[in-house]
Amino acid sequence: MTQPILEMRGITKRFPGVVANDHVDLTLYPGEIHALLGENGAGKSTLMNVLTGIYAPNEGHIRFKGQPVDLKSPKSAVDLGIGMVHQHFKLIEPLTVAENVFLYSGRCKAMLNTRDMNQCIKECSENLNLKVDPNAKIWQLSVGEQQRVEIIKLLFCGAELMILDEPTAVLTPQETVELFKTLRKMADQGKSVLFITHKLYEVMTFADRITVLRNGRSVDHMLTKDTTRQKLTNLMVGRDVLKVVPERDTAKSTREVLRLENICAMCDKGVPALNGLSLTIYGGEILGIAGVAGNGQRELSEVIAGLRRVTGGKMFLNGKEVTNLSSRDSIKKGIAFVPEDRMGMGLVANLDMVDNAMLRDYDVPPINRKGILNKKEAIRRTESFVKAHDIKNAGIKKPVRLMSGGNLQKLLIAREIHGNPDVVVAAYPVHGLDIGATETIHKVLMEQRARGAAILLISEDLEELFELSDRVAALYEGEVMGIIPIEKVTEEMYTRVGSLMLGDREESAAKEQTGGMAEA
Ligand SMILES: Nc1ncnc2c1ncn2[C@@H]1O[C@H](COP(=O)(O)OP(=O)(O)OP(=O)(O)O)[C@@H](O)[C@H]1O
Ligand SMILES: [Mg+2]
Repeated sequence: MTQPILEMRGITKRFPGVVANDHVDLTLYPGEIHALLGENGAGKSTLMNVLTGIYAPNEGHIRFKGQPVDLKSPKSAVDLGIGMVHQHFKLIEPLTVAENVFLYSGRCKAMLNTRDMNQCIKECSENLNLKVDPNAKIWQLSVGEQQRVEIIKLLFCGAELMILDEPTAVLTPQETVELFKTLRKMADQGKSVLFITHKLYEVMTFADRITVLRNGRSVDHMLTKDTTRQKLTNLMVGRDVLKVVPERDTAKSTREVLRLENICAMCDKGVPALNGLSLTIYGGEILGIAGVAGNGQRELSEVIAGLRRVTGGKMFLNGKEVTNLSSRDSIKKGIAFVPEDRMGMGLVANLDMVDNAMLRDYDVPPINRKGILNKKEAIRRTESFVKAHDIKNAGIKKPVRLMSGGNLQKLLIAREIHGNPDVVVAAYPVHGLDIGATETIHKVLMEQRARGAAILLISEDLEELFELSDRVAALYEGEVMGIIPIEKVTEEMYTRVGSLMLGDREESAAKEQTGGMAEA
């Protein structure tokens, strides 16, 4: 058998109160694509941070190409040829692609040579399917293109082991296929690829080998061809998992809660993102929004949440016009918002759980009494969130940046639905979440629906949309192409929504503007 490129043995990393990695073993071979799997909080990111020199392990050792290595800093990992594409890209937006690659290479190369760099970018684009314009500014690129820049940066620094932390969470299905084509080519050239994902489909389709972490331990590793999705799920969770489809009644509500009429709005770059969008959401229903990312989903959610001004059209809440609400007023009027960007727009990384739990209503009773913060009440509330949603944490007074993705999302949703809002806007609420956390979030949305809230659910996962939504609207270039009521999910519906997402308008879209659910 070939010599492994990487051997991690007995890696242990403790944080105050948590053992994030508990004697973890991981072996990688040259030329393979390896998937690292595990539930939220299993210790995947921590292990990768150890491998890239960000954290020093408390115990264990690492061999790279047969030699023991001491990864004292991120630079020492880069020098060895270990590169990582983080979930949040580390690119400088106002600079060009070439400038970003050049600046980054300062970390690995003493002599910077623009000719070599241009040659590298060209070769990457020709041989590795990594097409990107070297002179484009980062902010002009799509997320998929930015990811390619991250990969090119690492290749230019001579990476032989490429780590990607949930690389497909931000990609469309087509982009995902393209990415894995590139990764396969890199593996064929003898490099090793290690990727983290929560999507079992990707693991089964693209990985050669798999390592599973559970509660900080490496519980198993195997060849992909020797396992199944069900086996992997059981290994990750440590028990048999039966997917429960949330039950729902089919009684249709006709109480209009939110109505958008011919909404127009710009995106951050100042170009139109919503172009006369109309839709109505009724109390007690989930309206799903399908669409390829970048067709106005973000702007739609922000308009409803009072975070983006409309340049045309009207919005009505419970029959009253509320166009261009401020975000504070939107909160006061009972509009809850679970944004796609949960850390940043949703939660403040350096604040603790208690402060984050009161961000929505720190200025009104019972949290605020005549200008004085009632911390006791906030603590009580946080504790009730933790209990109700089983939020794992290292202490409610610790900064939330230390929490894992799934637990952050539970905290965010708990805060947003506290106080029984009339409208809940949830953008990609289960992005990056494991099976257990996904189940919890779905249950919460169904409970809100049962309580009578009007819910807008944005997702790129049609299966999820069909499972939860009463109706699914397809967005294309900032307009609703059609709305499909969901009663029984059939193969035909996937095709129908798929073609709406690509811009094939349906007659019923016009109806939505005048009529409503009765006609849909
Ligand atoms: N810097 C830190 N300080 C304290 N605790 C931490 C720190 N980083 C991670 N943890 C804790 O270590 C455990 C493992 O976290 P880690 O981020 O590695 O999980 P993960 O498998 O990447 O999860 P996810 O799928 O949600 O990204 C969690 O309980 C987390 O709260
Ligand atoms: Mg992680």
